[in-house]
Amino acid sequence: MIALSLLAFGLTAASTVTASPTANIARDAAVGPSCDGLGAGAFDSVSHVTLAALNTTLPNANSTGTPLVLATGGAFANIEIRRFGTWASFGANDYPSISLVDGTIYLNDGLKPARASEVQDASPLSFVTSTNGSPIDPADGAQIYCGVPSADPAGFATLAVNGDADSFSICKEGYQQVVIYKAEADRNEACYPVKLQIIPSN
Ligand SMILES: *[C@@H]1O[C@H](CO)[C@@H](O)[C@H](O)[C@H]1NC(C)=O
Ligand SMILES: *[C@@H]1O[C@H](CO)[C@@H](O)[C@H](O)[C@H]1NC(C)=O
Repeated sequence: MIALSLLAFGLTAASTVTASPTANIARDAAVGPSCDGLGAGAFDSVSHVTLAALNTTLPNANSTGTPLVLATGGAFANIEIRRFGTWASFGANDYPSISLVDGTIYLNDGLKPARASEVQDASPLSFVTSTNGSPIDPADGAQIYCGVPSADPAGFATLAVNGDADSFSICKEGYQQVVIYKAEADRNEACYPVKLQIIPSN
C-alpha cells in the first residue's frame, strides 16, 4: 500500500500540490539507502511501472518520452544479459512491466526471472537471467535504484541510480539504442542525454 500511495503522490498528484504530513512520515520511514540524498519525497518501491526516456536537450515528440524495454545485451556461459534500450530500436518487449522493490528492480512477467546488476560509469542498466536453469532471485539484485518525484506535480517521477537521476544518455550500440549511465564524453556524437521517467502501467 505504501508503494501505491507513493505512486499516486509522485505520478498523479496533479490536483494535490501539498503532501500530507502523514504521507511524508510513512515515506521517510520506509525508504532505504538507495534514496539517500534524493529528497524527502524519494521512494525505493513502486509496483508495475514502465520507463520512458525524455530528451533533456533535444525536442521530444511528447511529454512521456520514448518507451524503454529490456533489450538483450548478449549471452555468455549460463547467463543472458538484459539492459534498458528503446522499444523503437529493439522492437520486442519481453518484460511488460518492472517494479522497484527496496531499491532494486524486478522485471515482471517475463519468461525468466532476472537480477539487477551493479551499475558502473559508462555502462548500461543491466540484469542477469539464467540460461541453464540455475535459480536467480530478483531480491538478490543490487539495491541502487530510487524514484524521485517531479518538481512539477503534474509531471512524472524519474529514476535515479547510485543516487543520481541526471546522468543518463541513450547511446547507439549497433542497431540498438541503449540507456547508458555517465556516458563517456568521447561518445557524445553517438549519445543524447535523457531522464528516465517512471510511467504507471496497467
Ligand atoms: C530524442 O532525440 C532523439 C535524437 O534526435 C530522437 O531520435 C528521439 O526520438 C527523441 N526522443 C523523444 C522522446 O522524442
Ligand atoms: C511519445 O513519443 C514516442 C516517440 O518518441 C512514442 O514512441 C510514444 O508512443 C509516445 N507516447 C505517447 C504516450 O504518446
